[in-house]
Amino acid sequence: MSKILILPGDGIGTEIVSQAVKVINSLNANHSMDMNLVHGLIGGIAYDETGSPLPDETIKTAKDCDSILLGAVGGPKWEPLERSLRPERGLLGIRSELGLFSNLRPAILYPQLASASSLKAEIVSGLDLMIVRELVGGIYFGEPRGVEKRNGERFGINSATYYESEIARIGHSAFQIAQKRGKHVCSVDKANVLEVCELWREVMEEVSKGYPDVKLSHLYVDNAAMQLVRDPKQFDVMVTSNLFGDVLSDCAAMLTGSIGMLPSASLDKDNFGMYEPIHGSAPDIAGKDIANPLATILSVSMMLKYSLNQADLAEKINIAVSDVLDQGFRTRDIASGEDKVVGTNEMGDLVVKALES
Ligand code: IPM
Ligand code: MG
Repeated sequence: MSKILILPGDGIGTEIVSQAVKVINSLNANHSMDMNLVHGLIGGIAYDETGSPLPDETIKTAKDCDSILLGAVGGPKWEPLERSLRPERGLLGIRSELGLFSNLRPAILYPQLASASSLKAEIVSGLDLMIVRELVGGIYFGEPRGVEKRNGERFGINSATYYESEIARIGHSAFQIAQKRGKHVCSVDKANVLEVCELWREVMEEVSKGYPDVKLSHLYVDNAAMQLVRDPKQFDVMVTSNLFGDVLSDCAAMLTGSIGMLPSASLDKDNFGMYEPIHGSAPDIAGKDIANPLATILSVSMMLKYSLNQADLAEKINIAVSDVLDQGFRTRDIASGEDKVVGTNEMGDLVVKALES
């Protein structure tokens, strides 16, 4: 039996996670899986119900589970709150509390959706790149931080900091993933300006010595952003720091034209993981049954592959999603021309039907 913590969160979180739960239930019923679901609170809804965006209870339950499935957090309702109470703090807090340092963000172009990209089909067709983002360090968490008074005016501070051990462990993640893929790691930094990145580059070189079968290259982040839109297929695995990874992964996601399709995994040193779609909580379309649940469903696939040792079932989900796209069904965000537009619920049902057929 594996125990899965379900954290729907805010906005469209509840409706997309419900579709993923249908998929989990189907695997339990038809593939002798025994995934036991427990529900918890995170984000704005957790603040509303408990006064904290990350209740102690959630962390306690998470530590007792084998895996976590998260929807999304945030919304305008909670924006006026002081920083420490905002939904995003819940997300940053759970990543940090559970040591989920390795964030895998694949950008895969589904051939059925090639026309959804803003880039020419020949530039993106067959795109399959993996961004490995350091998730619990760097400028997101560095001290000192804050806004204070200096010389009679307000002064803002954040610190980009990394211990060599933090760089090395994300390096190992990236190299190990590359060994199972195209055997090329591109490390992205800003070593021409920032000392912390000089260290980053040095440590990546050191780590690479343990992986003679994998090629290591380096790019400055500005060039990497340019290369991502110029020729994204040159990349296999890209490894980078927390902030650069945040920015580059949104850019890479949009190359596929469909941010609603992309799952992610955040793993600790033992491959315990939290799985979530990379899109946000989209409060403007919440509750309207139009959100795309496929990224969340594909997050279940990543969970099976990376944490639950069920690569075959993971592949079954991927194939089911692909089948549904082949049949011409699309949620609104990825629809064009002759496509059959369906809602969130129906899309969930269609994937379950494809899985069971
Ligand atoms: C992401 C998001 C988060 C981040 C926000 C919501 C805190 O943008 O997961 O990429 O910056 O990490
Ligand atoms: Mg982001």
